[in-house]
Amino acid sequence: MNIPLEDNFSDVLEISDSDLAEKARLDANTIRKLRSGHFDELALFRVAPVLGLGARALNDLAQNEYRPAAREIDGLAVLNTPFHDMRVNAFLVSDPKSRKAIAFDTGADCRPILDRVAKEKLAVKLILLTHAHTDHIADLGRLKKETGAPVYISERESIPGAETIPEGHEFNVGNLKIKALLTWGHSRGGMTFFVAGLARPVAIVGDSIFAGSMGGGNVSYKDAIKNNLEKILTLPNETVICPGHGPLTTVGEEKQHNPFFAGRV
Ligand SMILES: [Fe+2]
Repeated sequence: MNIPLEDNFSDVLEISDSDLAEKARLDANTIRKLRSGHFDELALFRVAPVLGLGARALNDLAQNEYRPAAREIDGLAVLNTPFHDMRVNAFLVSDPKSRKAIAFDTGADCRPILDRVAKEKLAVKLILLTHAHTDHIADLGRLKKETGAPVYISERESIPGAETIPEGHEFNVGNLKIKALLTWGHSRGGMTFFVAGLARPVAIVGDSIFAGSMGGGNVSYKDAIKNNLEKILTLPNETVICPGHGPLTTVGEEKQHNPFFAGRV
């Protein structure tokens, strides 16, 4: 399935029109048009530095020229389910040898996870939650009951039915090693799970970063940026990034194309 990019460039611009107009020395009408998706290259190049965004990357996003290459690797399944007017991703990572698996988030409905587990004769040993926003944990009760697997979430974002873990906590499942990195900012305890043991490293990032964008800095925009820079974009370039919304991407591609980070790493 080709999952569309999570945001277009008008979602990325999070500042009032009048503030932005003043700082970019443009009139409010030009800003309004930019926001509504009207492409104006000159205006965009003036707006980007005010927002701390990479102008070229923002320009590519605006012109729909950024499409991360689809990645499929053995042992990684994307389960994409509808949640109100959007779609949300959950992931299943499995060790091809032992058939042991880890479910990351539940999606709106965990049926596709359970179907995949049955089809591939997997045994879910762990359920790891990237964060506690409803769309990511909507079907936790059922997933937990059906798999019997223990559930873990960050100690900064505890919820009923889940045990808590600190940053740096490691899990071993078959030949897979998983390390929890605290990439908070979008939520108080947002976790990125770095998985080693498949053909390429994998990072399950929740809403910390998306292909060409990032989750809103609901708790702290500054820390969301800092954590993404320090903990996700320092992973090996070939790492497959699995965001909670939108398509898969890689660390290398986001360094080049994500307007929040291009030119900063
Ligand atoms: Fe979220």
